[in-house]
Amino acid sequence: MSLNLVADFDLSVLVEEVTEAIFAGRIFNRQRRSERVKSTGIRKVFSPQKLSEPPPPQHEISNSDTEVVPNNVAVVLNINKEENWNVRAQPGALRRIIMNLLGNALKYTTQGFVEVSLRSKKEAKHYSRLSVELRFTDSGKGMSEEYQRDRLYRPFSQEDPFTEGTGLGLSIVRQIVESLKGKIRIKSQQGIGTDVTASFTLPRAKADLDDTTQIPQQVLDATQSMKVALIDPGNTERTSEAARRIQSTLRESCEEWFNAKVVTPPRFEDGQAAVAIFLEPPSIEYILHHLYGGDLSQDLTSVIILCANAYDSVALRKQLNLIVKTPRRIQVIAQP
Ligand SMILES: Nc1ncnc2c1ncn2[C@@H]1O[C@H](COP(=O)(O)OP(=O)(O)OP(=O)(O)O)[C@@H](O)[C@H]1O
Ligand SMILES: [Mg+2]
Repeated sequence: MSLNLVADFDLSVLVEEVTEAIFAGRIFNRQRRSERVKSTGIRKVFSPQKLSEPPPPQHEISNSDTEVVPNNVAVVLNINKEENWNVRAQPGALRRIIMNLLGNALKYTTQGFVEVSLRSKKEAKHYSRLSVELRFTDSGKGMSEEYQRDRLYRPFSQEDPFTEGTGLGLSIVRQIVESLKGKIRIKSQQGIGTDVTASFTLPRAKADLDDTTQIPQQVLDATQSMKVALIDPGNTERTSEAARRIQSTLRESCEEWFNAKVVTPPRFEDGQAAVAIFLEPPSIEYILHHLYGGDLSQDLTSVIILCANAYDSVALRKQLNLIVKTPRRIQVIAQP
């Protein structure tokens, strides 16, 4: 698609879609690579003695100890609430920025997290414009000071010439950001991680768009002051920094977008909240013991289980479907 095509679109939807597509592509490639070499590790989390017939496992779920492909980079997407995110700009150019910067963050991070954040800056005087900060933070390998000082945006330069790629991504991103009269800033520390921020101002869309990001009033009425418990089973190799970012992003989204009341109890207890969100899947044993069954007459807490990616969520959903149905609502969804 042409980089120059101008259109009215919702920037938050674009950021979300591109992030999901790139993330899904990585997971898919990794999964395909790994399927050739590994035998499934699912039986480690699955407890056959509890079920007469364990399902034929196809993919391990994320809290299993996978040997071949560690699943330990959490991708977090953080978008603040805006009246509307509709802008008039070149969607191709913005996609290109996200593809390159998120691509870099994922490429150079093998442990921890990658966070994509889209923030609007309040500028009361310009109703016709939207100032945004698009930021990519990772806990990857980082870059040396020397590389940053001397060669960072230079076309065809790579700190390690043996890595995949051509070394053009950053120079292209800088050109695009400059064409938007914006700024790009990179802070990086070797062995710690990298933080890339592109800030620019875009004209707001002229036409009224279908408001895809508006949350329907009925939903807002229902979630207003609803108590939501965030529960961290703390059972993976995920770093504490990754866990902290997932938790704070979820807290912000629940509070900002849904006006919910967020609590973070140490463990799940029925009735403690209307909805409980598990930040990662607890073990199948745990789910069987604590989330299934229960007293049907009382109000059961609805449960949402967040998985690291779409593969994990499909695998877990399959397993749960094979287990006896209960009246509790359990939703298994994928990050980001
Ligand atoms: N998030 C990051 N973490 C660590 N190093 C990075 C990061 N982003 C960029 N770099 C360094 O900057 C170099 C240039 O990045 P750039 O995106 O221009 O090229 P590339 O990713 O190597 O290749 P291409 O983007 O053309 O596929 C990289 O090779 C890498 O050394
Ligand atoms: Mg790149």
